[in-house]
Amino acid sequence: MKFATKTIHVGQPSEPETGALVAPIFQTSTYEQDAPGHDKGFSYSRTNNPTRQRLETVLAALEGVEHAAAFASGLAAENAVLQAYLRPGDEIIIPLDVYGGTYRILNKVYQPIGVVNRQIDTSDLAAVEAALSPKTRFVWLESPTNPRLLISDIAAISELAHAHRALVVVDNTFATPFFQQPFELGADIVVHSATKYLAGHSDTVQGAALAKDAAVFEPIKFVQNATGAVPSPFDCWLTLRGLKTLELRMQRHEQNAAAIANALHGHRLVRRVYFPGLASHPGHQVARRQMSGFGGMVSFELDGSIGEVIAFASSRRYFTLGESLGGVKALLCHPATMTHASIPAEARAQLGLSDTLLRLSPGCENAEDLVEDLLEGLGQIASARTARKPLEVAAR
Ligand SMILES: Cc1ncc(COP(=O)(O)O)c(C=O)c1O
Repeated sequence: MKFATKTIHVGQPSEPETGALVAPIFQTSTYEQDAPGHDKGFSYSRTNNPTRQRLETVLAALEGVEHAAAFASGLAAENAVLQAYLRPGDEIIIPLDVYGGTYRILNKVYQPIGVVNRQIDTSDLAAVEAALSPKTRFVWLESPTNPRLLISDIAAISELAHAHRALVVVDNTFATPFFQQPFELGADIVVHSATKYLAGHSDTVQGAALAKDAAVFEPIKFVQNATGAVPSPFDCWLTLRGLKTLELRMQRHEQNAAAIANALHGHRLVRRVYFPGLASHPGHQVARRQMSGFGGMVSFELDGSIGEVIAFASSRRYFTLGESLGGVKALLCHPATMTHASIPAEARAQLGLSDTLLRLSPGCENAEDLVEDLLEGLGQIASARTARKPLEVAAR
């Protein structure tokens, strides 16, 4: 069965009693038992729920494995993985521009109980090899990363990590299983912020953790029930609905991102464009090898002042200024004041996160409209400079 068919058919039969093509939302906390201890496979909705089970079944199929657990957010999924495995003295290798929330949970929750973070450039294989030690429990990868879209070689890193008996976790939020299959590349665990492309409509917060082996999955599944950060049946239904168009949406997101990258690349007011599809991107060759597409995100550094960057970011017609990504409606983010504001300015500079960097999440709009909106903004900067007038921030 091919990808798009899986998103629509796996685990989603018509409802047997009425024939309803779309199964109802099983909005129930508990289940009738035939006799004490004899339930019909469901006893309590923290432990399991039919709507959640449908979502977990299709997510597992899309990532090509048998084991998936859905969570109330991406960070809840990450926390379940960390809690299931990390013990005082363990080390975890994380990318330089790992998602800020992952950095925060490791720094503020796990470091105080004795877990050691090794933050390195995971796109550099030699750096990964040097950071591995007998204490490494996880190599945690994001590929592409946020916001510079750096690429790590998942297959090569998995080989290195396994030689050190470390597990490889891949946050597959940006690529989605449509563009990248981490388990085929050697990963042991995959996590998602389903809030983004999987659900795809910016209307729910949700997460997932998946594993290839039953033995690796079992402790994560245990934490799901034991700590209880499960999604509601309605949220699971929203993600099930969103998933049905995942392939179509990802194709459009990528087309739009490529059109934008091409339009911005070489523009005189753009210092640098980050898009793995550009031949000039440092991870382009690895991305070609390990992804079936380059994803839907684009970041770029504006060649201008902070004032110009803020005015540009605040005045777009179709790109709404906001923190998330991966929805049908285009979003724009200024990492220095938004997603990465909690990182001190000096550390941001060291990570290469300049104050003039903007991250774009093109939606499913028409590519020409999106490109026009961005070029118009750059044109306004150029005109204001010629007229020596400060740019006005448009009121929303
Ligand atoms: C790459 C990545 N991983 C994990 C998360 C956390 O997911 P959530 O916001 O659903 O908790 C995010 C959120 O932005 C993210 O971008």
